[in-house]
Amino acid sequence: MPSLTQNLTEIFEAAFTALDLPVQHARVQVSGQGQDAQFQCNGALACAKPLKKNPREIAQSIIDQIQNCHPDQGDSRVEGSKKDPSTTDLRSFSRDDIFESLSIGGPGFINITLKDEYISAFLGKLSTDENLGIEKHSDAETIVLDYGGPNIAKAMHVGHLRSSIIGDSLRRLYDYAGYHTIGDVHMGDWGTPMGMILSELELMKYDGEITMEMLAEIYPKASAACKEDEGRMALAREATRKLQDGDTEYTKRWREFIDVSIEGMKKNFDALGVHFDEWKGESDAHPFIDPMVEDLKSRGIAYEDDGALIIDVSKEDDNKEVPPLILLKSDGAVLYGTTDLATIIDRMKSHVPKKIIYIVDQRQSLHFEQVFRAAKKGEIAPGINHVELIHAGFGTMNGPDGKPFKTRAGGVMKLEDLIEMGIEKATARLDEAELAKDMDEEERKDVAHKVAIAALKFADLQNNRIADYVFDIDRMTSFEGKTGPYLLYQAVRIQSLLKKAGIDKHIDAPYKIEDADRELALLLGAFPDHFKNALKHNTPHVLCDYAYKLAQEFSSFYGNCHILSESDEVSKLSRLKLCQQTHRQLLTILELLGIQVPERM
Ligand code: ARG
Repeated sequence: MPSLTQNLTEIFEAAFTALDLPVQHARVQVSGQGQDAQFQCNGALACAKPLKKNPREIAQSIIDQIQNCHPDQGDSRVEGSKKDPSTTDLRSFSRDDIFESLSIGGPGFINITLKDEYISAFLGKLSTDENLGIEKHSDAETIVLDYGGPNIAKAMHVGHLRSSIIGDSLRRLYDYAGYHTIGDVHMGDWGTPMGMILSELELMKYDGEITMEMLAEIYPKASAACKEDEGRMALAREATRKLQDGDTEYTKRWREFIDVSIEGMKKNFDALGVHFDEWKGESDAHPFIDPMVEDLKSRGIAYEDDGALIIDVSKEDDNKEVPPLILLKSDGAVLYGTTDLATIIDRMKSHVPKKIIYIVDQRQSLHFEQVFRAAKKGEIAPGINHVELIHAGFGTMNGPDGKPFKTRAGGVMKLEDLIEMGIEKATARLDEAELAKDMDEEERKDVAHKVAIAALKFADLQNNRIADYVFDIDRMTSFEGKTGPYLLYQAVRIQSLLKKAGIDKHIDAPYKIEDADRELALLLGAFPDHFKNALKHNTPHVLCDYAYKLAQEFSSFYGNCHILSESDEVSKLSRLKLCQQTHRQLLTILELLGIQVPERM
């Protein structure tokens, strides 16, 4: 169903068309803060210049046109159906029944205020809509999301946390919009680090079982040794080459530590509630590399330069240098860009996606620029030119010193330690706020875990993903302010209010929007716009902002009007229905952010 602003935009578009004004300027949007009107259309200003007319005059003609126009869908029908606004077709409202006022503000804005009956009717429709006003996209379109990106044998760190959290949320958004989504963890399981471990095991003459603890020790040791000693590095390279050439013994060993490593990763991802459909890695691209390289060479797209095989991806209108993508180094080794290109071929073959979205550190933006250009220029797979390749980059999570987040000792902060830290803090916060007091140990633990994950995820997602942010465990776990725990608390509070009112199913009564309800009602009605905005730009923070506003608005609504004590039965039911709708929307958004809400707190 169209959103409130879409409905209004349609009305304005009709007026613009009738007046021969460019219809793209007819867009209606929610008014900015502190403005008297609920909505605005600023199109008259944009039309005025080319027409050399006074914008206020144009605005007046638009208003006149709207007020004098009677949509052909009989206004007469409205009378009969008006008794139950929630089932009334919004399009059959007459203009007089829609607009409380249309007025000109400033140099020529059109200020729009709606009739409460119209808001009630819209919200009634939204409340019965299964998908909260979001049209389900046809299931045929597939979106591949590449997130998580942990590396074998290395501990997952805060960078992987960001990728996992944002990627998981984006996957949920696309799911909600009806796309078919594939989340791929895309592990780093194929480069020189693999050879470092293999050669280290060989030097140790170790052929026993491999454990995670062991890997955690071996890898840093091997990596340090390789850095220091060219000869040692040569061994690692040789082992990598042998592995990539399919050496049986090495492949078996490699498989062993991959499995151990994945087990460790899964623990982290489970704790976060992050899921993947595919557990693929760079190694899965391997079979596609040789044929791809041959093909690109034969068509002259890839050529030799200084012994290496490269693809020139620069464009004439580049304003910064985009260096060529190196497919093969002079020693024949493949690079990160090579596996990423080959992975696109794999994904095209298995999924024929509409978009491939990479949720990866913003510092890799040049890498993705090169890969995307090479993929399109080299037409590496049929249909590639119809696929949207998107790098949804994110900034760094910094410590209080403004530098990338580290442990107190200055080491890399492991993801599992970070989660543990969150749980500890969340437990303390629950104690402080005297919440979860009368729960048994198991439920308390569960609530603390949910609070901790809500804190971590919301603190991350609420920032525009490109921006860096400061990790502040005290602030993010607080039950006050723009935090995950605050939203959980509000959701649970509404839950218990509804329980107290004895409501356990959808309230089937019309809304009756009055002064005390209007702000909340309008905000609830804006969900579809915010959702679409978040989806369009792959920016979950838009939903975080909205959820926070909604929770705050609910708080003032709750404080300012009678609900359970309301004597007018119709108003009381309408308000309870507003509570129910707020609860439903908060839960939906938290779910979209990957945040679980406890039954009680
Ligand atoms: N493993 C990489 C890292 O830790 C991230 C992989 C991202 N995905 C990709 N297709 N390149 O930086």
